[in-house]
Amino acid sequence: MHLEKLTLYNFKNYEEATLELSSAVNCFFGLNGSGKTNLLDAVYYLSLTKSASAASDTQNIRQEENQFFVKGVFIDKKNQTEVLCSFIRGSKKAMSEDGNEYKKMAEHIGKYPLVLIAPNDIELIWDGSEQRRKFFDGLLSQMNHQYLENLITYTQVLRQRNGLLRLFSERGIIDQDLLDSYDEKLVPAATYIHETRKSFLTEYHPLFEKWYKQLAGKEAKEKVSITYRSDVEETAFADLLKKNLQRDIVLQRTSSGIHRDDFLFSLNAGELKKFGSQGQQKSFLIGLKLAEFQILAQASKKKPLLLLDDIFDKLDDVRIVKLMSLISDGNFGQIFITDARSGRSREILKEAGVKAKIFEVQNGVVKHAR
Ligand SMILES: Nc1ncnc2c1ncn2[C@@H]1O[C@H](COP(=O)(O)OP(=O)(O)OP(=O)(O)O)[C@@H](O)[C@H]1O
Ligand SMILES: [Mg+2]
Repeated sequence: MHLEKLTLYNFKNYEEATLELSSAVNCFFGLNGSGKTNLLDAVYYLSLTKSASAASDTQNIRQEENQFFVKGVFIDKKNQTEVLCSFIRGSKKAMSEDGNEYKKMAEHIGKYPLVLIAPNDIELIWDGSEQRRKFFDGLLSQMNHQYLENLITYTQVLRQRNGLLRLFSERGIIDQDLLDSYDEKLVPAATYIHETRKSFLTEYHPLFEKWYKQLAGKEAKEKVSITYRSDVEETAFADLLKKNLQRDIVLQRTSSGIHRDDFLFSLNAGELKKFGSQGQQKSFLIGLKLAEFQILAQASKKKPLLLLDDIFDKLDDVRIVKLMSLISDGNFGQIFITDARSGRSREILKEAGVKAKIFEVQNGVVKHAR
């Protein structure tokens, strides 16, 4: 599967742009702030219906305009489809495939798998559990539609339940029947999510370890691991909810559940964040993403789009060479690379024998270059 053509209209710093892409490697070169990452973000929209970085759709409308759209023509085994995402300020985002508008955004997720490697991936190691849940939820949602449905249900019902707890706390009374009706929806969704996260990790972990080893090199003896932690591992969720009810009313929120799950990243027996060297952390992050690529490819039987934002800036020579050799060996499908320093990238690609279609980006204008 690949993206053949990309059209932007009033998207971030682009007024209008149309790109004819290579089905292999595409490079976007340009100064800082010229709009390279924005192009990748447009591709991200077509696959995942949202921005990789901006919290709101409104933020992506070109300043002083009222609407953006992003359009892509995908080719998969000779079938062509057109995906359109449009957003008008103050209204609902619309997403369509070949002119058929989706009722729910979630219906689109997973059809055009994508993996993004970006500078802020480091947050996965440095930040709290929310970032790690987001990563694995994003991955699982692309793989498994039922997972996404359960996640949406869980998030909605949890919000309602917390609202109810606030009400109980303020009024000093409990409507047990109403609470039970929420819990009856929450528990099966949580059970599904928990079981899926657990079984997913047993499948994903060996792939991750394999990629880490490849990136870290044969000499590296350290052992890396990801451990899944959940409140509902020891005690059934329904029992936890009952047991914690009084506390939850005081706190005005649900204090246990899969919304607090974590995936612990370890190096040997210690925490990666504390004990991992910079290089080990980098290998860990790329290992996570390449394992994501592999497992998505297996699940969807399509090679995901691979977006590499600014990675030459963040990776050292050893890891760049390893990644490039994977690319030149044809391990991936369509690739998008950005770099502010075109000379360096051209050199790296040439050395690895990778042929790429080159685009120059300048202040929201993108041109095919030689
Ligand atoms: N809604 C918007 N309207 C207009 N311009 C925007 C909007 N959102 C972002 N921009 C502009 O887009 C530019 C940033 O683009 P982008 O992040 O793609 O740059 P980049 O080429 O990736 O730079 P770097 O090399 O620093 O990563 C900034 O100048 C920013 O002001
Ligand atoms: Mg950028």
